[in-house]
Amino acid sequence: MKKVTEISKAVFPVAGLGTRFLPATKAQPKEMLPVVDRPLIQYAVEEAYAAGIRHMIFVTGRNKRAIEDHFDTAYELETELESNGKHELLALVRSLSPDDMDCSYVRQPRSLGLGHAVLCAQPLVGNEPFAVLLADDLMTGEGDGPGVLTQMVSAFGQLQTSLLAVQEVPAAHVRRYGIVAGDRVDDRVMRVRQMVEKPAPEAAPSRLGVAGRYILTPGVFERIRNQPRGAGGEIQLTDGIAGLMDTEGVHAFRYAGKRYDCGSKEGFLEATVEFALRHPEVGARFRAYLQGLDLSA
Ligand code: G1P
Repeated sequence: MKKVTEISKAVFPVAGLGTRFLPATKAQPKEMLPVVDRPLIQYAVEEAYAAGIRHMIFVTGRNKRAIEDHFDTAYELETELESNGKHELLALVRSLSPDDMDCSYVRQPRSLGLGHAVLCAQPLVGNEPFAVLLADDLMTGEGDGPGVLTQMVSAFGQLQTSLLAVQEVPAAHVRRYGIVAGDRVDDRVMRVRQMVEKPAPEAAPSRLGVAGRYILTPGVFERIRNQPRGAGGEIQLTDGIAGLMDTEGVHAFRYAGKRYDCGSKEGFLEATVEFALRHPEVGARFRAYLQGLDLSA
């Protein structure tokens, strides 16, 4: 295959039910829960855009209309803001869907697992490497440095194989993740030799957990299509990628930055506090507020 240095498409699997956030997610998608003032899905789309990606592909399900509306034109709101002279807000609303960004939506008709969700995007992805972003995982680069997906696109430019973002996780948490093990290439990169989805701690080959950012070669689609069901009876993305280890090769990438597990209440709260502290409008006052709290109780 000819060397690919830019990734143009990103897949966002957003069909999940979000049961861990009920009742908040009874009537709205979990990806629309806001961290300070932006919904989770927007952070993921902005990360992909910053990495040079312009075609966003959402794998949606029932009750996910709000995501489509979020990235669509909002005529009434925009007209109202315009006639009230609220130009900054108007620019903010319009910035959600820049002119050079395309959004496509495909339905995942049944909840058969993350691998199945990614397979639903195949007709839109076609035969080129693509990114996958799980919006539950809110990722930031280090300081003002590049975002996690931007780092991965540049690593992919060198490696030309499927690439998974990984981080060290506590032993007690390995059963929440895809876990990988393999051979060190350099400080950040590892050639993956083993991949297991949600192992028991005693069966885990390492403590390197996959975070929700991937760059995948299109070969993964045939693997997913032909594999048996995996952990939890689901069609797992991890198993599809594992199928590429011995043929095309797969690498793991230790990103520089931080992951907030916004699929859990604790992670969501951590993200909310840290993003609020950094927020240009409310950060300083929020810091003062936190400093004034009596946390001894
Ligand atoms: C998914 C993947 C898992 C990965 C995790 C990262 O699991 O299946 O391999 O480690 O995302 O967040 P989920 O969190 O959807 O159960």
